[in-house]
Amino acid sequence: MAREAGDIAWALNLEPVFIARDEAERRECGFSHQVILEQDVLDYTAMPFVIGIGENSIRRAIAERFKESLRFTNLVHPSATFGFSQREAIDRGKGIVVAAGTRFTSGISVGDFCIFNQNTTIAHDCVVESYVHVAPGANVSGNVHLKSGCWVGAGAVVNQGSYAKKRVVGENATIGSGAVVIRDCEANAVYAGVPAKRIK
Ligand SMILES: CC(C)(COP(=O)(O)OP(=O)(O)OC[C@H]1O[C@@H](n2cnc3c(N)ncnc32)[C@H](O)[C@@H]1OP(=O)(O)O)[C@@H](O)C(=O)NCCC(=O)NCCS
Repeated sequence: MAREAGDIAWALNLEPVFIARDEAERRECGFSHQVILEQDVLDYTAMPFVIGIGENSIRRAIAERFKESLRFTNLVHPSATFGFSQREAIDRGKGIVVAAGTRFTSGISVGDFCIFNQNTTIAHDCVVESYVHVAPGANVSGNVHLKSGCWVGAGAVVNQGSYAKKRVVGENATIGSGAVVIRDCEANAVYAGVPAKRIK
């Protein structure tokens, strides 16, 4: 995900600086761009940061660790499109990464440190809590509530809820790639298939 986050920065004419855990990781990642070590990160507090890590629990742990010391910003690809007042709603958050081709319609609330990967769609009146990851090509219909830390897999579809009762994907639940969710999903469970069934 770091490379994708870097691509968003370039699209915005920003020069990204990446962070490696240690020297070994710095060598392994093979970035030709500036890579600093984690131990030096507090020398860079003037820069805005995002956490370009797809795994929700790791992103949450890093956000917690640096919440007082680093300035987290949002990173929104210029090709993302937004319905009425939706861009402003996202700009009120922090640490949100929106990759190329994502579409938000309107009336959607978004928590901090969420990732919306390439070509995802989030429809009207959804509630997306913090630390959610919507993987590439996933399609979240209207009136869906994605609870904190849940993962919607690549190409998955979450069918719509209603104004009276949103379709709920529970806290830290995982929806497999290509799944079609037609019922609420329990917290901390894994769902896959069409229609999606609990597998773990
Ligand atoms: C659903 C998922 C989380 C399950 O991973 P896992 O816990 O390691 O599960 P396993 O690979 O052990 O598979 C368990 C069973 O589910 C099935 N299964 C796994 N993923 C599936 C999927 N996406 N759709 C349908 N069935 C799936 C496996 O065939 C296996 O079935 P079996 O027990 O009959 O052999 C994972 O396969 C997945 O789809 N992750 C999302 C990937 C993604 O979106 N990546 C985007 C990166 S940005």
